[in-house]
Amino acid sequence: MPLNAVPDYDFTVRAKVTGLAAKTTYYYRFVAGSDISAMGTTRTAPAATEAVPQVRFAWFICQNWSANHWQAMTLMAGETDLDFVVHLGDYIYETTDDDTTEPTHPAILLPGGGTVANTLHDYRTLYRTYRGDARLQTVHAHFPMGRDLGRSRILRRLLADHQTYTNANLQQTARRRAANQAWAEYLPVDWGDVSFDLNNAAYDNIRICHDFHFGTLVHLVMTDERLHRDDNVVSEAAIAQALGHDPVNGNDLVGSRYFVPQSVLSQFEADDTQRLGRVPSILGPTQTQWWKDTLKASTATWKVWGNEVMMNRLWLDLSALVPAPNNTIFVIDCDAWDGYRSHKADLMSYVKTQGITSFVAITGDLHAFQAGIVRDTPDPATGTPVMIDLMSAGISSQPFFEEIKSQLAGNSLSSLTSLISTSSVLDAFFERNNPDMLYTDRDGIGYASATVVTPTQFIAIFNKVKFLNPDGSAPQAPLDKCTRLTINAGAVSGAVQDNV
Ligand SMILES: [Fe+2]
Repeated sequence: MPLNAVPDYDFTVRAKVTGLAAKTTYYYRFVAGSDISAMGTTRTAPAATEAVPQVRFAWFICQNWSANHWQAMTLMAGETDLDFVVHLGDYIYETTDDDTTEPTHPAILLPGGGTVANTLHDYRTLYRTYRGDARLQTVHAHFPMGRDLGRSRILRRLLADHQTYTNANLQQTARRRAANQAWAEYLPVDWGDVSFDLNNAAYDNIRICHDFHFGTLVHLVMTDERLHRDDNVVSEAAIAQALGHDPVNGNDLVGSRYFVPQSVLSQFEADDTQRLGRVPSILGPTQTQWWKDTLKASTATWKVWGNEVMMNRLWLDLSALVPAPNNTIFVIDCDAWDGYRSHKADLMSYVKTQGITSFVAITGDLHAFQAGIVRDTPDPATGTPVMIDLMSAGISSQPFFEEIKSQLAGNSLSSLTSLISTSSVLDAFFERNNPDMLYTDRDGIGYASATVVTPTQFIAIFNKVKFLNPDGSAPQAPLDKCTRLTINAGAVSGAVQDNV
């Protein structure tokens, strides 16, 4: 199949090969003159109507170029018989000023200068550099990515087309379009499937929500949780003003996106709902309807949601632990589904009323291994379990335990750091506040796999790898431990946990 590499797309090429047989392994390579690429392997999905006995796959997230090491990718690439792998976000990070610790990675110099990607040239440089890593190349060469959902962290720092670095939340449409374009150029996606249109001048010139069938056993439903979302519900500028901080140049993430009193979130959500004429959402109205319609129509045994941000409830009740005004219930991560609670409740109650069973989400974003029951309403005493959220830690990014300590330093919640002195103390503290958690390890890196998905069971494994050695080198035998979670088909109610 002849392909033209052209400068308009940074000399990237993509081939959509059609007419392939179902459930078949194919080998491929690219030839340009005397240059011949390494051989790639892919496997087509079984036909949507075929009753297959088993599906196996893995998912991974958050590969910061400059953090820890990427050895987990080598472990994942060595897994045999995976039908596919899924990336759930932070395929690149848009910043280059993190401490460079990954032993084999040189510092990235952005063409535009500075430490944050802004231009198309910057984003292309990031993707080109990340995709130059031999371990990531091996993952791509060994497995099909159903459709790679990897979105850069720019999509966390750019909600729709507004930046979130400062309280001003400046609109940056050109930057968003540059991020969209470089993603579409450098990841193995078909521009018809993802509806990428450079001629569309809008920031949302790309559509990536999509679904895949693996026989009658697994229906993978993938959503975009950055592009179509409303701004975070609690305004940074309003919080800054209330605290006497700079509402333009300051950065009041704590209090607006993280660690938000529940009463404050409720008030802002009510205000947003009145202004928007609907509840603020992550998926946006069109994608929400698609999600509902797709799941309702699904006849697959397992409905697997490729979800980008945490569905599990993560609250902390500080009423007996700290003085006023912080002696209240806090919602820890309002960038995740907890921050859009009416929207979350709408989706989860839909799952309940439609009788959608055997429903699990595969998730990332928090930099933690975490599994838990999600209910139609957040109260464990009264809510009905509707799904299990399975979250993998990042390949290399700084774990949640480290992030939360730095977030709390130097603000009114700094006394909390003594309550979360170690990662196991942190985990136990969160579990007491959120009894629906089934498993947590918020001080880890690695990846997750679903090694046995059958008509009766969904078995997921959290593969935790060791951090860097004290001398800064990567561990020779990186695997630390594997934790297995077994979920029975039907109405989800929990998971059996053991070590393997
Ligand atoms: Fe991340």
